[in-house]
Amino acid sequence: MIIGILKEKQKYESRVSAMPETIKKLIKAEHSVIIEKGAGNKSFISDSDYKNAGANIVESDNDIYNKSDIILKVNPLDNDELEKIKDGSTLISFFQIKDEIKNIPQYINKKISILSMSHVPRTTLAQNMDALSSQSNIAGYKATIIGADHISKYMPLLMTAAGTIKPAKVLILGAGVAGLAAIANAKRMGAQVYAFDVRPVVKEQVESLGAKFIEVESDSNEGVGEGGYAKEVSEDYKKKQAELIKETIKDMDIIISTALIPERPAPILIDKSMVESMQPGSAIIDLAAINGGNCELTKCDEIINHSNIIIDGRSYLPSTMAQDASQLYSKNVFNLFNHIYNNDNPLNLEDEITNGSLLLNKGQVNNKILQNFIDQENN
Ligand code: NAI
Repeated sequence: MIIGILKEKQKYESRVSAMPETIKKLIKAEHSVIIEKGAGNKSFISDSDYKNAGANIVESDNDIYNKSDIILKVNPLDNDELEKIKDGSTLISFFQIKDEIKNIPQYINKKISILSMSHVPRTTLAQNMDALSSQSNIAGYKATIIGADHISKYMPLLMTAAGTIKPAKVLILGAGVAGLAAIANAKRMGAQVYAFDVRPVVKEQVESLGAKFIEVESDSNEGVGEGGYAKEVSEDYKKKQAELIKETIKDMDIIISTALIPERPAPILIDKSMVESMQPGSAIIDLAAINGGNCELTKCDEIINHSNIIIDGRSYLPSTMAQDASQLYSKNVFNLFNHIYNNDNPLNLEDEITNGSLLLNKGQVNNKILQNFIDQENN
């Protein structure tokens, strides 16, 4: 097959979907690889690195769209790219259905297959293909660093001749992949860390990292959804949760919010009055900004100051660590590609990982959530 690698066009995107190392593996498996000139520049990989790995460098993205059977990308196609992609080809990239639903008719008309890195099941077997996790891990780590940078305080306890400095207090809302990475790094930096999640099962993981788990009293596991994800909680739970967060937030120096329910807008956990109750000089890093934010005041991709509280809504933290982010992402993509195509039964829909990731199969819908979104759009 001919595999095409494109330069990412989005404003803050610095990642690339393949590294020289993964290209070598594709070529060893008897595929050929074409890559757009400069695709790796922002991840500090030169065209000659790619050339040495065996890829053909092309000047124009048109060549990639015209020739490739499979396109590897980080982000889904924009309107211009969607015009250019060859009918019947396959796209492997992140793909949030709720954000892309307007473009779905065009993908269908062009009989495109979409293998979504956002829908790889979070199972043990698929761990090395789980790009959401590899990138969220980076975001959680980086959030603690930018949080520490925003506040005008030390993170660790410090005993000096001039007196003792108390450690910073950090609250993590949502202890999934990004949240756990944030807890681990905030602890490493010496902060006092607290965490909250609707899934009681994460309590043990939070505590094993040395953080204090804050719990809403509830008899049931009402926030527990399928596949390690959360689901929407009741109004009563939300009320109790809001009171608990309101009480806790007042003492915090940094809040890192990561609460997510897949394919839904982010739950609002911090309203304006809560922000205003925080200590001046503290900061909220809202990792959920791209999904609307966990804080009512968050503006996606902006850093704002509300009553001396910094609210950082940057949605592209993995891109700020593009070398490692690209390395991990490209391995995830290669592993998925390898799992699906490099065997005797390629694109086997009986396989959980293949079936879970495949949203469109030559323009045919192959995913229940996507079908529901299409039905809603048509009604
Ligand atoms: P995840 O699904 O592993 O974790 C989300 C956690 O939030 C889960 O543990 C879930 O139980 C919890 N949660 C859901 N509803 C909640 C509620 N109402 N209250 C408290 N906790 C709740 O997701 P992951 O991979 O850790 O991603 C977290 C967020 O980070 C997502 O919004 C994702 O889009 C975002 N992200 C942001 C990046 C950035 O640069 N800003 C980069 C990568 C991811």
